[in-house]
Amino acid sequence: MNSFAATTVAHPNIALIKYWGNLDDEWNIPANSSLSMTLGKLWTQVRLVADQQLDRDLLRIDGAIASPEAQARVSQFLDQIRRLSGKAFFCRIESSSNFPRGSGIASSAAAFAALALAAARVFGLSTEPQELSRLARLGSGSACRSIFGGFVEWIGGQDHRSSYAVPIAPPQHWELVDCVAVVSTAHKAVSSRAGHRLAKTSPLQPCRVQSAPQRLEACRRAILERDFELLTQVVELDSNLMHSVMMTSQPPLFYWQAETLGIMELVRQWRSEGAAVCYTIDAGPNVHVLTLADQAERVREKLSQINGVQTVIVAPVGEGASFVEG
Ligand code: DP6
Repeated sequence: MNSFAATTVAHPNIALIKYWGNLDDEWNIPANSSLSMTLGKLWTQVRLVADQQLDRDLLRIDGAIASPEAQARVSQFLDQIRRLSGKAFFCRIESSSNFPRGSGIASSAAAFAALALAAARVFGLSTEPQELSRLARLGSGSACRSIFGGFVEWIGGQDHRSSYAVPIAPPQHWELVDCVAVVSTAHKAVSSRAGHRLAKTSPLQPCRVQSAPQRLEACRRAILERDFELLTQVVELDSNLMHSVMMTSQPPLFYWQAETLGIMELVRQWRSEGAAVCYTIDAGPNVHVLTLADQAERVREKLSQINGVQTVIVAPVGEGASFVEG
């Protein structure tokens, strides 16, 4: 069905096996396959309206006109949609989220997953999930995983056709919870986009990429068998490896702050005392602490008592991108 407006919602995701570095920067074809958990309760809603009167796209985020950088990023994405659909009109895009940008939760993953779904409808492209996943990837690599709910693998592939995400287990499969300890909401100095381009300058990147399939297999097994111990081993190793690559790039990228290390240490300590907790960290200083649903309130409380933790955002496993009726 073709239409000139669509409203959609999508959720961010946290990578358990990380995406860092591309084979192809233009098409966001990653150096390795990755695996994530979609985060419920946190959402980004996008309304896309095709407007024949416009001579360029207009983006508003949370009611305010977006920065030139954000406008350019969304317009570049819509240029690709225009190319693929053969339709030339411009759009008004309104995006709003219920979680702070720069909070260590990939807001662009939710935004581009929602935008891909809305754009597919408005531009008359296929809304088949794998096709949507490819489209979302063009906006932000990790967005291809947010098309789906639950636990999701992004099959890295070699080109646009072969690079897309697939769900490996539904949200109800395992009651994991992500407690995000926010130690800074400052905008990251080096974007993931720029970081991906630096990855190849680290002597450790080939080793990380080469060994990623093994970790992905172990992570998949941990999820399918609901094995928290195995999950802990592989998720912390994978996060540490990605940060080792970041720290050894030219120029080096240090996303951690003193508080980040302090929380990592506490997580290890709580684990030695019997708690089911492990950490993973994206391109920022905030720490995602994974736990089981019945321990989440306790973990939230303990994290919020740490000096330097501004807030703790709690997210269970969530659903994929969908249309909002009306
Ligand atoms: C560290 O290029 O998808 O989160 O800047 O949000 O577009 P955006 O990020 P993206 O890179 C994500 C990198 C990562 C790891 C991951 O999500 O796999």
